Amino acid sequence: MASESQYQAFLDTLKDEGLRRELVGVEALNARIIRVKGRDYVNLASNDYLALRFNKALIARASEWAGRYGVGSGASRLVTGNLDLFERLETKIAKLKQKPAALIMASGFQANAAVLQALFDRAVLGAEPLVFADKLNHASMHFGCKAAGIRQLRYRHGDPAHLAELLTQYQADNRPKFILTESVFSMDGDVAPLGEIGRLAREHKATLIVDDAHATGILGEGGRGRSDEADIAIGTFSKALGGFGAYVACTGSLRDYLVNRCSGFIYSTALPPPVLGVIDAALDLLPGLDAQRAYVARLATKFRGGAHQMGLSTGTSSTQIVPLLAGPAEAALALNGRLRDAGFWATAIRPPTVPQDTARVRLAFTAAHDDADADRLLDVLKEKAGQSAKKV
Ligand SMILES: Cc1ncc(COP(=O)(O)O)c(C=O)c1O
Repeated sequence: MASESQYQAFLDTLKDEGLRRELVGVEALNARIIRVKGRDYVNLASNDYLALRFNKALIARASEWAGRYGVGSGASRLVTGNLDLFERLETKIAKLKQKPAALIMASGFQANAAVLQALFDRAVLGAEPLVFADKLNHASMHFGCKAAGIRQLRYRHGDPAHLAELLTQYQADNRPKFILTESVFSMDGDVAPLGEIGRLAREHKATLIVDDAHATGILGEGGRGRSDEADIAIGTFSKALGGFGAYVACTGSLRDYLVNRCSGFIYSTALPPPVLGVIDAALDLLPGLDAQRAYVARLATKFRGGAHQMGLSTGTSSTQIVPLLAGPAEAALALNGRLRDAGFWATAIRPPTVPQDTARVRLAFTAAHDDADADRLLDVLKEKAGQSAKKV
């Protein structure tokens, strides 16, 4: 039997290294303000990029569908949980993603964990597939690869030349090939060079899988994200779409395959109707939100410009996600503490979520922020908080 003291020793080590994580209770007053221990903060740590979480249309459809269809789906999709709402919604998702079909999954993490495991199944493919993956891919993608028992061939972050090198190395190997990348990287806010990656995928007959979590809703025409080059797009409704749940957009036959082979789909209860209502209403709103998308991009660009003028590093960010690089974990915690003192709630991101010595404070701009928020944040950084941020 495992001893509790072994787990405690692990926690103690994390604490010594400044890496212990703690849950903090928060109250969300609206999409902009959170209250923590009685104090109000501007929330710079939310992925609710379009500020849809409190949108009246989403709330109304959630309650309407709860009233009409119940608050739970009662079973997995293959048993009796396949309410006809699912297939209607999946048609909408496939249209948004411009793919032939789509399948709703429970969450973004679960989708990557379960779908990748099913896609990389050696028993089905007849061999261990060759999976070329960006080094900074999200933990859920690593989890899916690990669950499939495959070894990833990891290329340098955002570097198509390195990917090309690896693909060439394996040119004569005729095992099935996959390329795996995020479209917008969650901790860096930079974009994958998908045009070049797509070209390499075609040249080497590799299946391109794109995790579009941080682009769906907020980037691309009508908010469709950045997965045009992808053979398979995976994404979540928990970020710019304000709700919960996830999707895989792919061909009809792959969808059928997942329904038959993806254990995370087969053995899990179908999403509840109120959650589906939120997804449905958000998808209806998306095409009309160009102004919000442009607004968020402008705020982030303005903030980056101000930070760079002060000599602060925002890494390779070019989207609504803007990291303030600090280096050591303690420096990120100190910077975060100073921002909190000034009334901004952000999160220090430390290893193992990001590589050693690249700890940072991750800021995310949303449609709920205004110019005054960005200006005041820059003023605070100018005054004192910038002391722990890394200079470019
Ligand atoms: C790139 C990426 N993929 C997947 C996920 C997981 O999505 P969800 O929060 O819906 O589980 C996240 C969010 O943390 C993410 O950043």
